[in-house]
Amino acid sequence: MPERIVLAYSGGLDTSIAIKWIAEKYNAEIICLTVDVGNEKDLASVQKRALQAGAKKALVSDAKELFVKYFIFPALQADAIYEGQYPLATALSRPLMAKLLVDVALQEGATAVAHGCTGKGNDQVRLDVSVGALAPQLKVIAPAREWGMTREEEIEYAKRHNIPIPVTVANPYSTDENLWGRAIECGVLEDPWNEPPEEIYTLTKSPAKAPDEATYVEIGFARGLPVSLNGRQLDGTALIRELNELAGEHGVGRIDHIENRLVGIKSREVYEAPAATVLLAAHRALEALVLSKDQVRFKETVAQEYADIIYNGLWFTSLHQDLAAYVHSTQRHVTGDVRVKLFKGNCTVVGRKSPKSLYNLSLATYDKGDVFDQSAAVGFIGIWGLPVRVQAQAQLLGQPEGPLGITGPGAGG
Ligand code: ARG
Repeated sequence: MPERIVLAYSGGLDTSIAIKWIAEKYNAEIICLTVDVGNEKDLASVQKRALQAGAKKALVSDAKELFVKYFIFPALQADAIYEGQYPLATALSRPLMAKLLVDVALQEGATAVAHGCTGKGNDQVRLDVSVGALAPQLKVIAPAREWGMTREEEIEYAKRHNIPIPVTVANPYSTDENLWGRAIECGVLEDPWNEPPEEIYTLTKSPAKAPDEATYVEIGFARGLPVSLNGRQLDGTALIRELNELAGEHGVGRIDHIENRLVGIKSREVYEAPAATVLLAAHRALEALVLSKDQVRFKETVAQEYADIIYNGLWFTSLHQDLAAYVHSTQRHVTGDVRVKLFKGNCTVVGRKSPKSLYNLSLATYDKGDVFDQSAAVGFIGIWGLPVRVQAQAQLLGQPEGPLGITGPGAGG
């Protein structure tokens, strides 16, 4: 009996020729698995192409709900953004794909899983490491890491073997899309000095062509999870879809990032992530209202660590579980509403409220009803400033550094 191998199949050129290439090299039957994480694609035709290219079976798994519930929403609660810019759409999908590949491999009695990643990116690391964590007995095959074919040679290979060539080959860009956003690489984007051309965007309108009238959206959160838009309860997938439309229409969510890949390469990545941009901003705005100063600060540290874990392919680790438990605990009072304004490429939080708000008007107000005891400030400042005065007396006053007692670039001298 020939060996069976489960291939993560996108329908693109690389994975289409991978079907034939792996089948020949390993004398194997190829089972294709296409994971639907909300990339607007005609999945029936993807399936058909897999079979035409020689797959024994072509499976499609609708993983949108799993993706939202176990990957996107926990990342949102963590405020996970890589290097301050990237909401991690691609990175979040890979451990889920690994899990589903492994499940199918075990069901089908396969000995290996395969994917179309090259040897230069992060995705190979995320998939290989995750499969290794879930099913160490499975081999991982990555033909694009081995075959050394140029794009032209790949097209040539496809023609030679009667493999249907996807229409997207005319497109010079490499893209990856799901509910949480879309990544665009290659072509003219490889020169970081080039402005991204308008043609690369599919989820966002140009801010210049966006409506002249702002749209306001009210997002309802319950324990850190978005549950409603403008008062309408929606399930996660529908809510993200609708926000992608709304914010995309206003040109919100374009990101141009010089990114540090795990394999040491700096790369120019362009993203469009309308819903992610809005939800991350709204979520942080609500946290600012209900978490203490110390909770917010500590959570920022956790957010960075959490983003690195996702980016670096370490989803299936105990450190991730530990941080996820912490994040979950921080969300118990993150309930309330945030109003955002979408206008010409910008998403601005303009209002927030919560039954658990720590904002206290009678403390903050300068009008009547003020309960803050201003006379107590004098004693507080006396003690707060005590070490400052002691140090200034002993070390700073009378020093020759300059008029402000500061040395540095502006101090002259
Ligand atoms: N740089 C992003 C990341 O590593 C996006 C990668 C897009 N992947 C792709 N196969 N085109 O998460």
